[in-house]
Amino acid sequence: MKFFIDTANLDEIREAYALGVLDGVTTNPSLMAKEGITGQKNIIAHYKAICDIVDDNVSAEVISTDYDGMIKEAMELVKISDKIVVKIPMIKDGVKAIKHLSSKGIRTNCTLIFSAGQALLAAKAGASYVSPFIGRLDDISFDGLQLIEQIVEIYDNYGFETEVLAASVRHTMHLIQCAEIGSDVVTCPLKVITALLNHPLTDSGLATFLADHAKGNK
Ligand code: G3P
Repeated sequence: MKFFIDTANLDEIREAYALGVLDGVTTNPSLMAKEGITGQKNIIAHYKAICDIVDDNVSAEVISTDYDGMIKEAMELVKISDKIVVKIPMIKDGVKAIKHLSSKGIRTNCTLIFSAGQALLAAKAGASYVSPFIGRLDDISFDGLQLIEQIVEIYDNYGFETEVLAASVRHTMHLIQCAEIGSDVVTCPLKVITALLNHPLTDSGLATFLADHAKGNK
């Protein structure tokens, strides 16, 4: 299972990378804006900075919503680094753009997936990743994890190579349940990854070991 971090914050990306468990980064226009990164030149420079930190899999999202615009942007984005995966929204022109880019060997991540039908279309078009947003489905009383199950089953039925990238992951139970279901990737904030470390019995057990060691060495 791959772990991606869902942020444009360079310090958080460095921290997750230093932990040794990071396989990639996902960003989106909202996350870039949150870091105060605006203007095409700055956005491109920021993607370059992210690519310099991690080994692979940096999702960079297009802003255009028409086919020609998306292809033009994609060609600019892939010039930054061969680590770039072009993130394309699940709309009609997006599906056409994914088909074209995948035929050229350019990796894509189809974003804003909220149904199994959308995931099927993205896989048919040759997307490298699909990003179902599970937290946002939970927010409106739909079962986000059930969607991950459906997509994993459909892809397994037909041997689609598209990887399921669970996004909008809000807490550790989302992540663990995605792992149980067999999602290929999760992307989440740093705090979800680091929260996996925590268990009170680990803390108390370690405190006891260290105290006993100190007593024995008196
Ligand atoms: O990866 C998609 C993600 O950025 C959306 O997360 O928490 O805004 O629903 P959230």
